[in-house]
Amino acid sequence: MNIKIALLPGDGIGPEVVAQAVKCLQAVEETFHHQFTFTTGLIGAVSMYKNGEPLSQETIDLCHNSDAVIFGAIGAPEFDNNPDAKIRPENGLFQLRKELGVFANIRPVAVFPTLLKKSPLKEAVLQGTDFVIYRELTGGIYCGEHQLSDDGTKATDIASYSEAEISRISHLAFKAARKRRKKITLIDKSNVLETSRLWRRVVKRISESYPDVELECIFLHNAIMQMILNPSKFDVILAANLFGDIISDQASVIGGSIGLLPSASIGEGIAMFEPIHGSYPQATGKDIANPIATILSAAMLLQHFGLEEESRAVVSAVNKSLKKNIVTPDINPKSKYGTAIVGDFIANNIVDTDETLNMNYENIGLGKSTII
Ligand code: IPM
Ligand code: MG
Repeated sequence: MNIKIALLPGDGIGPEVVAQAVKCLQAVEETFHHQFTFTTGLIGAVSMYKNGEPLSQETIDLCHNSDAVIFGAIGAPEFDNNPDAKIRPENGLFQLRKELGVFANIRPVAVFPTLLKKSPLKEAVLQGTDFVIYRELTGGIYCGEHQLSDDGTKATDIASYSEAEISRISHLAFKAARKRRKKITLIDKSNVLETSRLWRRVVKRISESYPDVELECIFLHNAIMQMILNPSKFDVILAANLFGDIISDQASVIGGSIGLLPSASIGEGIAMFEPIHGSYPQATGKDIANPIATILSAAMLLQHFGLEEESRAVVSAVNKSLKKNIVTPDINPKSKYGTAIVGDFIANNIVDTDETLNMNYENIGLGKSTII
C-alpha cells in the first residue's frame, strides 16, 4: 500500500518522538513491502518563529495533499507563562483540527501487564482496565468565542454544541461499543450546563437505535472518582471536548505514564494521529521523552488503513521493549536508554523478531556492547 504521511512534529519533544514513529513505520515498510512517503511541515511555536503564525497555508495544503497526518506536540513556555499573548501555538492545532474536520478523538486506555507496578493504583483495582475515550474534538468551549473586556477585568468563553455535532461522534462511539463490551458511559455536567443537557437528550435518543449497547450517564465529578476507584467498569467513554481532554490525562496515569497513550483523530476526511501528551519543554533535546505514545499512534494509523497485521507487529514490538525494560526514564528512572535507543529497539523488533537482537540491547545496558 502507498500512504502519503504528513509529519507535523511541532514543539518541544515533538520532533524527537515523531522521529521514532517514522523509524517504526519505515520498519513496517521494509518488512511488509509498503511504500510510505513522509513530508514534514511546521505547526505551533516553531511555525510562529518562522512564519509569524502557528499554522500556515503551506502546512494546511500539505495535510490536504496527504492520506494521514502524524502530529507530535504543541506549546512553549514563553506563551504558557504569558496570559497576554494574543496568538498561541495551540491555536494552530485547533485550526488544523477544524480544517481537517477531525471531530472525534479516540484515546484507548489499557494497562500493559508489565507495567502494573508502575501505576499509582493498586494492582487489584487495575485488573481488567481497558477502555476507550471518544472525545469530541472540534466543538464546545474550545471553539467558542473567547473574550476579555477592554479593561481586562472580565473574561468570557462560550461553549456551544449542536445536535448534529453530538450525534456524529455518538454514532461512532456506539458502533465502537458494539465491537467491544457493549457499554457507553456519557460523561457530562448536565446538572449545571445546558450543553450537557443537550448531550444527554441526543445520546439517549441515539441509544434507542443500539439496544444491544448499555448506556450510562454520569457527572464529570463522579466519573473522575470512579475512574480511580474502579477503572475496569468503563468500556467506551463519550465526552465533550474539554471533559474528554481532562479525563484522558487522568486516564493516562492509570497505566503508569502519560508517555504511553496514543490517539487517533478521525472525521470527515483524512485522519490525524498524535500522542495525548504535551510538548514537555523541560525534556526537549535531552533524549529522555517516551516515544511509545507516538509509536502506538503510528500503530493506530496502520489500523486505520486496514493494515492489521502491521499494526499488531508494532504493538508487539512495543510490548517487547516494555518486557525487556528497554524503556525511557519515566518508566524506569534508572534506565540508561533514551528516546532514540527505545525507538531503534522497537523498529528493529518489527523487522526482526529474533531474540538475539534483544541480547545486544541487554549488553548495551551492561556496558558490554555498543553495536546494534
Ligand atoms: C490534547 C492537548 C491539547 C488539547 C492542547 C495541547 C491544546 O492537551 O490534545 O489533549 O487540549 O486539546
Ligand atoms: Mg490534553
